[in-house]
Amino acid sequence: MDEQNRKKTILSGIKPSGDLTLGSYMGAIKNWVELADEYNCYYMLADMHAVTVRQDPAELRRRTLSQLAQYIACGLDPEKNTLFIQSHVPAHAELAWALSCYTMFGELSRMTQFKDKAAKNADNINAGLFTYPVLMAADILLYQADLVPVGEDQKQHVELTRDIAHRFNAVYGDVFTMPEPFIPKTGARIMSLQTPCSKMSKSEQDNGGCVCLLDKPEDIMRCFRRAVTDCDTVDCVRFDPETKQGVSNLMQIYSVCTGKSFQQIQEEFSGLGYGAFKPRVGEAVVELLRPIREEAERLLRDKAYLESVYRDGARRAAQVAGRTVRKVYKKLGFVQP
Ligand code: TRP
Repeated sequence: MDEQNRKKTILSGIKPSGDLTLGSYMGAIKNWVELADEYNCYYMLADMHAVTVRQDPAELRRRTLSQLAQYIACGLDPEKNTLFIQSHVPAHAELAWALSCYTMFGELSRMTQFKDKAAKNADNINAGLFTYPVLMAADILLYQADLVPVGEDQKQHVELTRDIAHRFNAVYGDVFTMPEPFIPKTGARIMSLQTPCSKMSKSEQDNGGCVCLLDKPEDIMRCFRRAVTDCDTVDCVRFDPETKQGVSNLMQIYSVCTGKSFQQIQEEFSGLGYGAFKPRVGEAVVELLRPIREEAERLLRDKAYLESVYRDGARRAAQVAGRTVRKVYKKLGFVQP
């Protein structure tokens, strides 16, 4: 067996439905970069998932390319990782249909994300929103992924993927690899700067709760100066996610930026209040993001390069994904074309 085949496979994706945030960088992309040598990695821009809620077409196109540029600027090397746009690989839609015939209505009805999204989009509870996890199962199973780096909110979808794979394998033999959710050891869970009890989300772009990777330094500084700390406790920098959620979140961010431990940060700011701490975190984030923003902006001006990356990514992805679809179609009894 050659080197490539012995490595485990990783697949993950982010919907280009909003700009990438500091949370997606620190909680996901930053950790993906380190996996490239040890694993066979696929990272997708999940544009087909994005259209389960209404998107402005020009904006979606712009954000998809921008997200690709940001992936690369964050250090995901397109030579070492397969970076591709979901809609460029027809196998995703093809396998999703087949798998939807092996997914139960009841299972999909129990998905908490569906229930949340249906509540939020009461005027557009479309079938795609409902079958979203089947498409996600197809994304994962097409590449025979062993590990799927996801946040807590997506774990249920990976569990469902396993149930679908298990059901299919039980009938047709070992067609799919059983994937597992993968929470990297170093993954940081970054919370909103305004409501630190909830995850930093791109939906909070307007109220200052989230920082995006391409935000200008002055906007980043404003978000951190205005970040919510904990008014009910003493004005001191101490890590305690139970009672000091806001400050602990800022410490987490500062720790990722500087590599300092919580103990070191506590010492650095001992005797100083939040008023001194918050702008320092802001500055550290500005410096962390500066090279990423500059590189992403440079790449976005180089359309030909970006095009070569997503073309090559789609070609590589389609090779692997096509093989899985052909196998599935054969098992199902479709006449080979
Ligand atoms: N559903 C994921 C999210 O909303 C994005 C996604 C789509 C994904 N396909 C995937 C994540 C496959 C991991 C694997 O965050």
